[in-house]
Amino acid sequence: MAGRFTGKTVLVTGSAGGLGRAYALAFAKEGAALILADVNAAGLAESRAMIEALGGTASDHHVDLGDEALITAFAATVLAAHDRLDVLINNAGLAYGEIAHGFFGLGMAKWQRFLAINTIAPLLLAEALRPALAAAEGLVINQSSMASYTPATAYGVTKASLNAMTFGMATQLGADGIRVVAIAPGLMETEASRASLPEATYQRVKGMQLLKRQGTAEDIANLGIFLASDEGSFINNEIIIMDGGNQLRGWRI
Ligand SMILES: NC(=O)c1ccc[n+]([C@@H]2O[C@H](COP(=O)([O-])OP(=O)(O)OC[C@H]3O[C@@H](n4cnc5c(N)ncnc54)[C@H](O)[C@@H]3O)[C@@H](O)[C@H]2O)c1
Repeated sequence: MAGRFTGKTVLVTGSAGGLGRAYALAFAKEGAALILADVNAAGLAESRAMIEALGGTASDHHVDLGDEALITAFAATVLAAHDRLDVLINNAGLAYGEIAHGFFGLGMAKWQRFLAINTIAPLLLAEALRPALAAAEGLVINQSSMASYTPATAYGVTKASLNAMTFGMATQLGADGIRVVAIAPGLMETEASRASLPEATYQRVKGMQLLKRQGTAEDIANLGIFLASDEGSFINNEIIIMDGGNQLRGWRI
């Protein structure tokens, strides 16, 4: 497919569904070749089929980003196939269930796993892929959350840490022309976000929007496209909020 990203390569983690799939489809529609990674093999295969149905190209990789050896092996596979990587979207994350409700009583092992997947894996993957990102003077997008500004859950702490990691990565990778930006969405309508909240809570939060609609996965994907485009090419070392203006309301789930 011809588009603004024809000839470019984009890697999206957590692309078996939700925001990751939306990013992958948006870049595929603009002509990019996609590299998909997730622990959910069935969802990955579905995403790949959707891209191919659009006339795009994608490879899918089953990777547990909580395992350093698997990250290293995955990065080696990517580097063997691609000299250049234009965009790395670190979207995979644990976002629902215990991590989003718990704080006390989780213990060291759970905290370490949450931080490994949500905060450290984005660094390790970018570090391992640095030669290809440098060759393209590419962009890294870290998927943060508005929860990073109210870190009263383990989830919020991992995303606040990811904001800090974003600043560290931008500081270190800028020398190679690599930009690093985090996107902090509010509640966006995905299958997983919807399933994570009781219907009444979901409707209450939706009813608090300043705008008359809920944010979608496509809204976030469009921001990714803009950041990766020529028009967004001087945006770096930044956390960009996209929540329809809701932070001004101080809402809480
Ligand atoms: N949807 C929202 O409202 C919202 C808001 C703020 C931030 N986010 C963030 O956006 C991202 C995607 O959220 P979503 O709503 O699409 O949820 P989702 O659960 O559909 O997406 C997360 C993906 O990451 C994958 N994943 C989890 N652990 C992994 C691991 N160890 N290795 C590889 N892949 C792994 C999952 O299989 C899943 O496909 C998450 O990082 C989430 O924290 C979402």
